[in-house]
Amino acid sequence: MNTLAITGGSPIRDSKKKPWPKWPVWDSAEEAGLMEVLSSGIWSYNGPKEVEFNKAYAKYIGSKYNICAANGTVTLQLALEACGIGLGDEVIVPGLTWQATAAAVLDVNAQPVLADVDERTWCIDPEDIRRKITPATKAIIPVHLYGCMADMDSILAIAKEHGLYVIEDCAHKHGGEWNGKKAGSIGDIGSFSYQLSKLLTAGEGGSLTTSSDELWEKLDALRNCGRRPEQGGEEQDKGAGVYDDDGNFIQSGNFRITDFQAALLLEALKRLDEQNAVREKNAMYLNNLIKDIPGIEPMFHDPRETRKAFFNYSFRYYGDEFGGLPASTFREALMAELGCNIESCYEPLTMCSLYQPHTKPARHKLTASYWQNIAPAHTKLPVCEKVFADHAVCFHHLVLMGNQKSMDQIAEAITKIRANIDELKPAAAVV
Ligand SMILES: Cc1ncc(COP(=O)(O)O)c(C=O)c1O
Repeated sequence: MNTLAITGGSPIRDSKKKPWPKWPVWDSAEEAGLMEVLSSGIWSYNGPKEVEFNKAYAKYIGSKYNICAANGTVTLQLALEACGIGLGDEVIVPGLTWQATAAAVLDVNAQPVLADVDERTWCIDPEDIRRKITPATKAIIPVHLYGCMADMDSILAIAKEHGLYVIEDCAHKHGGEWNGKKAGSIGDIGSFSYQLSKLLTAGEGGSLTTSSDELWEKLDALRNCGRRPEQGGEEQDKGAGVYDDDGNFIQSGNFRITDFQAALLLEALKRLDEQNAVREKNAMYLNNLIKDIPGIEPMFHDPRETRKAFFNYSFRYYGDEFGGLPASTFREALMAELGCNIESCYEPLTMCSLYQPHTKPARHKLTASYWQNIAPAHTKLPVCEKVFADHAVCFHHLVLMGNQKSMDQIAEAITKIRANIDELKPAAAVV
């Protein structure tokens, strides 16, 4: 009789009876905040909740400013524009990220240059950044991917040496710290996403953090149809209607958020540290449980990560220790045992189905050499490609919001699969 859930046995966790925690989290505080916005009639345009959130989040991150915008894709694009990056410029991004990181570079007509990642953290490899720098390089966008952080000391040193901007993509890292500094306050600009799956969410939304007066002024104008805020940063205190009126505008579009989103963010921010602490405690406990299972390797956590933020919980799987079982079959077997979603990592940008720069020739009517340079398949990223194909096992952060018993079950499920690997041999042969 089979014992693995995928071959008909009983699962380690019956998720219908014992559901995993739900995401997003909200209660009557969100309801009250939303009703307040509704009855105020100020539903958008630097409303009181947005002004309050900007101040609260800037303080939380430890940057001088926070500027809300429509999502974590346009925030990257606005950040690049604020740094004056455009045609002919190159921007180094990791090959293992959501496509938005590179797409934002394309959308300002610059060239994304894909760098490989550190296999221990899956974040951009500083050595590969060095190899990819040319006289056209203007910026680096490190992504603090899933539960890890990019090596910001090395990245800042490279940026200083070559006079480059550093735009931190913090879509996964609300509240994570490197050497006591929050992600988003380390580089020139931090870019956050508040999309539904994220650690801080308003369904959709994004924001930019910076401590530079000059960058803040540009970013605030760029997200608001080019209207320049008043000098000196007073706009964050005053709300709408503070723009100078002497024709000092720049070209841009409307990337503003609504005050309903800001109301949700204000309440979610109050819960963030506590939720991050639960996720960190559970992730570290689980790492300890699985670290000695042959074929399983927890992610490396650099001691300079002084506070962790887990958008995903990931570990590395080595099929050799599981009778040659492919990672995809292992993930399916684990999902069947646990009743939660488990995926590989992002598709590397060299082979990502949603990263198709050549499908926008009319928008980017650029030179043949531009098209040649951005062709994803022209870059080889051996670490990204191997991690995606053979090693990545990723859970959404909601599994980390359960209790210790839930972590025990994850470890138990892995051990169970390894002990009963023979049941999967025929399936392994087919894959
Ligand atoms: C690393 C990274 N950067 C940027 C984004 C874009 O954020 P948004 O979905 O808010 O546009 C995401 C979204 O998942 C992301 O994971």
